[in-house]
Amino acid sequence: MLTRRSLLGAAGVGAAGLAAGRASSGLTERADHRPPDVAFHGEHQAGIVTPAQDRLAFGAFDLTLGSAAELRDLLRAWSAAAERMTRGKPAGDPGSNPLAPPADTGEALDLSAARLTVTIGLGPGVFAKDLGLAHRRPAALRELGPLPGDALEPRRSGGDLCVQACADDPQVAFHAMRNLTRIARGGATLRWAQLGFGRTSAITSGQDVPRNLMGFRDGTNNLHGDDAPAMRSHVWVGGDEPQAWLHGGSYLVARRIRMLIESWDRASLDDQEQTIGRRKLDDTLLPHRGPEDAHVRLADPKANGGAALLRRGYSYTDGIDPASGQLDAGLFFISFQRDPEQFAAVQRRLGTSDALNEYIRHTGSAVFAVPPGAREGGFVGEGLFA
Ligand code: HEM
Repeated sequence: MLTRRSLLGAAGVGAAGLAAGRASSGLTERADHRPPDVAFHGEHQAGIVTPAQDRLAFGAFDLTLGSAAELRDLLRAWSAAAERMTRGKPAGDPGSNPLAPPADTGEALDLSAARLTVTIGLGPGVFAKDLGLAHRRPAALRELGPLPGDALEPRRSGGDLCVQACADDPQVAFHAMRNLTRIARGGATLRWAQLGFGRTSAITSGQDVPRNLMGFRDGTNNLHGDDAPAMRSHVWVGGDEPQAWLHGGSYLVARRIRMLIESWDRASLDDQEQTIGRRKLDDTLLPHRGPEDAHVRLADPKANGGAALLRRGYSYTDGIDPASGQLDAGLFFISFQRDPEQFAAVQRRLGTSDALNEYIRHTGSAVFAVPPGAREGGFVGEGLFA
C-alpha cells in the first residue's frame, strides 16, 4: 500500500518537500499546537487550579498494606509513574521483559499527554488503620457524616486513597488510573471508580463556562484558580494547620449526584429556571437569585457564612438503573476547599431546602486530604513520613 511517506519518497522530494508535505497533512501543525504538558511537580498538586480538562477517571482505593513504610513506597511509586505519564511517557518500560507482564498496559503509547494531571488524596482511613499514623491526622479530615438528603450507596462511597486523573483524552485519563491501580496491587485495591465526561466547571477566569446535563451553564460563579488571594482564603490549607505535611494542600470532596433526568425533562422551562435561579439560555441571575429555595440563592457564599468552593466536577453517565429502567446519569461533583466543612455547610442547606432535590439524588460521597505538590525527586505525601 502507498503511504504518504512512500508516495513522497517515490516522487523524489527532498527534506524541504517532505516538511512541506507534513505541514499540509496537518502533522506539523498538530505537533506544534499540542497544548503543553501540565507539570506534575510544583507547590500544589496539579489538577486543582489547572484549567479543567474535558475528561475524568477517578478511583478510590481501600488499603490492604500494613505499615507506614509500605504506604510511603506506594505513594513514591505512584508519583514516579504519574510524573512520567503526565509527560506522555509510559508508566514503566512496557518492553523490558518478555517473560513478565508489561510495566505499562500500552493503550496510551501513541497518544500525547493531553494535559493529563494526576491528583492523589488520602482518606480518613489512612489515619484510622494500624499504620502508626494516627497522630498525623489533620483534625478536619473525617468522614462527612450524614447530610440531609443523602441516599448514599456504600459501594460508591468512601476510600482510603484516591486518584483523580484528568485529561483532554478519555483514554489517557483512563490509562493513568488503570496503571496506578495496577501499581497499587498488593497494597491497595480499587473500591469504586467513576468516569466523567464534559467538565462542568470553568476553573480559570479565561476558561469558557460549559453546560451540565440539565442544560444550564455550571461554574459561572465558581472561584477562579488564577485568583491567588481567593485560593489562599478558600482552597489551600494554610500555615495555621498543625499538621505541617498538609500545608499548601487542600481537601477534595466527591459526590456522585444522580439526576432524575426523565422528571427534569418534563419540567417546564420556567420551573427549571426557578429551580436553579438563573435563566437557562442566557445564564443571567433571576431577581433576588430566584425564589427562596432556588439552588444559587441557597448556595450563595453570602448565605453560607462566606463558605466558597472551587467546583471541578464532570458529567457522568453509567447506562441504565436496572431498578427503574431510567438513565443513570448526572453530576460527579468534585470540590476543593481548605476545610471539608465548607462543603458540608453548603450541602446542609441545599440538602434541606434546595428545589433541585426533587430532581437529584446524592448516591456517592468521599472526602480526601490532598497533600501539597511534590518537589522534583520527591513524591506526593512525602511530608507525612518526615
Ligand atoms: C446535580 C447537582 C447540581 C447541579 C445540577 C448544580 C448546578 C448549578 C448551576 C447551574 C449553578 C449556576 C451557575 C454557577 O454559578 O456555577 C450552580 C451554582 C452553584 N452550586 Fe450547584 N449544582 C449542583 C450541586 C451542587 C452541590 C452539591 C453544591 C455544594 C454543596 C453546589 C454548590 C454550588 C455553588 C456554591 C454555586 C455558586 C453559587 C453562587 O455563588 O452564585 N452545587 N450549581
